[in-house]
Amino acid sequence: MRGKAKGKKTVKLIVGNWKMNGQVADGRALAKTLALFAEKEDSDKFKMVLCPPTTLMSTVALLCAESPVDWGGQDCHAQPAGAYTGDIAAPMLKDLGCSYVIVGHSERRQYHRETSTEIAAKAKVAHAAGLIAIICVGELDAERAAGKAETVVSAQLKESIPDTATPANTVIAYEPVWAIGTGKTASADDIRQMHAYIRRAVGEGYALLYGGSVKAANAADILHTPNVDGVLVGGASLKADEFQAIARAS
Ligand code: PGA
Repeated sequence: MRGKAKGKKTVKLIVGNWKMNGQVADGRALAKTLALFAEKEDSDKFKMVLCPPTTLMSTVALLCAESPVDWGGQDCHAQPAGAYTGDIAAPMLKDLGCSYVIVGHSERRQYHRETSTEIAAKAKVAHAAGLIAIICVGELDAERAAGKAETVVSAQLKESIPDTATPANTVIAYEPVWAIGTGKTASADDIRQMHAYIRRAVGEGYALLYGGSVKAANAADILHTPNVDGVLVGGASLKADEFQAIARAS
């Protein structure tokens, strides 16, 4: 039986963001391995969510349909349909069985110049489509060095979370931009402080994820930090062994 999508913090949410990686054969092998793993573990400690590129979504959907693994998109448009060449709409993701969609990832904010206002509009459309929006926030290296990390994250939270957000349809991911794909993880103190800050800002109930160079070796410490309800994993989510070990660290 498929497990229910969890937007709450009762189980650790282990989200794999495959980004722009993988041919069909790779996606098939990875999804198959992870679906079998999750089925076998049958754990109430974690919920695994795979966010493949859209080209691999049907493959993931097919292989995970009978497993406890959920899946989601990496982005969606701020409109539910229309003349937007190359874009993906939230209802289309829902149609492919997605439970989640990531919005406001720093790579979208950076390379596609997405603003927090646009991200809030995307999250709103995702909510209307029945998806759980994983809204990403995080400061740049220079912003942290200037002592502005909390100010930046606070503004992103205020502007990126729409009024449709509830703990059931929204997850917040804190991903310091300087820690993404760099091998540099935020220190335990930095994570504890920022997550406590975000918790005060958004209130109880919301699941808060940490992301940025999460791997098997640091997953247990991160996952057991107060106010960390899960992780958003990039590079290490492409390796079945690593991703499984991260889930087991829940
Ligand atoms: P990383 O990416 O784990 O490769 O640092 C995390 C993310 O971008 O979500």
